[in-house]
Amino acid sequence: MILSWTWTTFGVVSFLFLIQAFMWKSNAKAKRLPPGPRGLPIFGCLHLLGKYPHRDLHKLAQTYGSIMHLRLGLKPSIVVSSPQAAEQFLRTHDLVFASRPPLEASRYISYNQKNMIMAPYGSYWRTVRKMCTLELLSNVKINSFMSIRNEELDLLIEYVKEASGTVVDISAKVGSLNADMTCRMVFGKKYMDNEFDKRGFKAMIEEIMELAATFNLADYIPQIASLDLQGLTKRMKATAKVFDEFLEKVIDEHVQAQDENRTKDFVDLMLSLMESEDQTEYGMERDNIKAVLLDMLAAAMDTSASSIEWTLSELMKHPRVMKKVQKEIENVVGKDRMVKESDLDNFKYLDMVIKETFRIHPVAPLLVHESRKDCTVNGFHIPEKSRIFINTFAIGRDTNAWNDPDKFYPERFMGSNIDLRGHDFELIPFGSGRRSCPGMQLGLTVVRLVLAQLLHCFDWELPGGMVSTELDMAEHFGLVMSRAKHLSAIPTYRLNI
Ligand code: HEM
Repeated sequence: MILSWTWTTFGVVSFLFLIQAFMWKSNAKAKRLPPGPRGLPIFGCLHLLGKYPHRDLHKLAQTYGSIMHLRLGLKPSIVVSSPQAAEQFLRTHDLVFASRPPLEASRYISYNQKNMIMAPYGSYWRTVRKMCTLELLSNVKINSFMSIRNEELDLLIEYVKEASGTVVDISAKVGSLNADMTCRMVFGKKYMDNEFDKRGFKAMIEEIMELAATFNLADYIPQIASLDLQGLTKRMKATAKVFDEFLEKVIDEHVQAQDENRTKDFVDLMLSLMESEDQTEYGMERDNIKAVLLDMLAAAMDTSASSIEWTLSELMKHPRVMKKVQKEIENVVGKDRMVKESDLDNFKYLDMVIKETFRIHPVAPLLVHESRKDCTVNGFHIPEKSRIFINTFAIGRDTNAWNDPDKFYPERFMGSNIDLRGHDFELIPFGSGRRSCPGMQLGLTVVRLVLAQLLHCFDWELPGGMVSTELDMAEHFGLVMSRAKHLSAIPTYRLNI
């Protein structure tokens, strides 16, 4: 009897142990991180990232797969490199991955995450996003800014017409155009470059974009932040000071002009929220206003300007495509009047060209998110507070999604339903889900309009007898990926008016 009890006890204990072991095993399996390269002590895989991190990560993903784990410094990081994987992160588990990490750049440049772009997910971010969408980025508001777009674009066209036959720095001109349009929409007036900083708006915005995107050791090994080994903190403080002084000036001017009989703009609206009884709901103080204004400036200017630059660059490289776009526009508009915004929906081929450009040159090559809690994706454990990098550059080159992905071939979109507004994960130049771009409609309107006018009004050729294949297409990595070198070309006016 005693023997049989002993065997029974032994059996039960063994069984329980087996269950426990199985649970441990399945728990360990559930906690399986995605594959990825092994890192060095402390530095992790930071040494694998060079001048073009989106390209380095794309290459690594070809070995380790479309959901890859690497430790960057001390931080677990996940790189997402295929449309299917992006859908998991930005649609299926969007709520989990809708936050942003507290990077050094957001501390120094964005008033400690008080802006929208870098704000962590939560009620403050929701309120600011709602306010900007309603007061600046809704269709009604975008339409109300139409005269601003037309006036500024007319000035550019006049300038280029005068410069017919000579070399025009397209990058500089398109940059100033976007700066002027954005200042007028956001601040109610234009500011001259010399009222700001001798380097000019575009250069300074580019500096911000670069600083925000550079892999800062302090973001990955916070213990060494105070050493500022890359000199980034020093640069960030200097840049932030220039912008802060400028934004203070903008706000002061608006405060002083409060009683004037003029159309109220976005700055006035935010000032009224700061003073309103609902202040606590909005949490608007002077730093919050400055952070949001800087967001709008940075997000609107460089993104649209770079998209236009890259599209024109590809067209200069592919004269066949340039001619085809010009023909399409001419068929709709003729040569006796200028393109109007109401014409834009008729330019189907131009839209394909823009999609193809975004596929090959996404202006934001790495979307940076943070996980708000542990999550399992495709059987892989994604720990809370992981840095998530959605590699839109790699997605645009995924050979499972695109034939001959390195080839610029807008006709690939003929008869295809793939759109760029965040529903089709093969092409997500504006992101997708909760953190997707709220300025997409405005950005697309500007990009389509400027391109259509520049292509309708002028023929373009490269300077110095350069042939199209010689055009340098090198990138400059930043939060927005622009051309490394300015694009210059010689225009010839081609209309009858
Ligand atoms: C976010 C692209 C124009 C405001 C983003 C994101 C991308 C993007 C890829 C990040 C999405 C993510 O992290 O998942 C573009 C492109 C543009 C453009 C390609 C032009 C062609 C604009 C304009 C504005 C704007 C005109 C506003 C004036 C913003 C803001 C965010 C954002 C505020 C942050 C949203 C958030 O974190 O909630 N944009 N954008 N963008 N964009 Fe744009």
